Amino acid sequence: MTDLVVRRLLVDMEAPMPRHWCAGDAFRTALFNAMSMSFPVGEQFFIDAVRAGVRALPPDRQERLHAEVQGFIGQEATHRRLHGLYNGHLERHGLVNEWAPRSLERQRLLEGQDVRHLLAVTAAFEHFTAILADWLLRNPDLLGREDPRLVTLWLWHSAEESEHKSTAFDLYQALGGNHDWRITWFRRITATFLVDLGRQTLNNLRRDGTLWRWSTWCSAATFLFGRRGLVRTTWRPWREYFRRDFHPRQQDSGPAQRWLADHRNLYTPVGAGA
Ligand SMILES: [Fe+2]
Ligand SMILES: [Fe+2]
Repeated sequence: MTDLVVRRLLVDMEAPMPRHWCAGDAFRTALFNAMSMSFPVGEQFFIDAVRAGVRALPPDRQERLHAEVQGFIGQEATHRRLHGLYNGHLERHGLVNEWAPRSLERQRLLEGQDVRHLLAVTAAFEHFTAILADWLLRNPDLLGREDPRLVTLWLWHSAEESEHKSTAFDLYQALGGNHDWRITWFRRITATFLVDLGRQTLNNLRRDGTLWRWSTWCSAATFLFGRRGLVRTTWRPWREYFRRDFHPRQQDSGPAQRWLADHRNLYTPVGAGA
């Protein structure tokens, strides 16, 4: 069981944000903005899946997981709210979120399915977010210094994703979810997540007027495939999920714990799984 603290982030998300807030780099900004666009809808789905999952457990096991599940819900609900405000700025920049309505349509296809499917989908996304989070916490300089508030938002969100990476996975296992379905959903989620992320990033760049700049594509190549590149360094932890004996806690949480310990001035704890 993990102790999950809900934190109120001490940032003002109402203040306007620069167009290329991420190190003045059009590609990186478009990619992070695309991810942010997917969060409110995605995180609501994770909350609902985990809530339904815990309700399906026998009462004594519900009791044991109660605090962790409350912490998970509190953390995701806070992310959802702040990314909602963030996405409001993107709308004012003229960007259009086409990812969220597509996700909602897909979510409708899962209505009425066994809760273990919903949890396998959630656990797959949570593995994705945990490895992206760990990578970002190891490379925080890539976020630049143009908007320190957004740097804080991304690193805090990353730290909490790493912190609660086991909740959906443990619930899936507790309800007897099997390896084959876990992997099937992970394959599907990998494909849809990467296609959606690519589409929304291109869409953001097109609306930003920076899609056909040479500098955009150079930045994309370095950011994805360079020495510290996102694809180059995360494919190994991505692959770990296929192992039969995989558990999210096997992955290092050190960078997340260090960030939370070193930045206590940036948040107020509002509850520990309460
Ligand atoms: Fe989150
Ligand atoms: Fe999460």
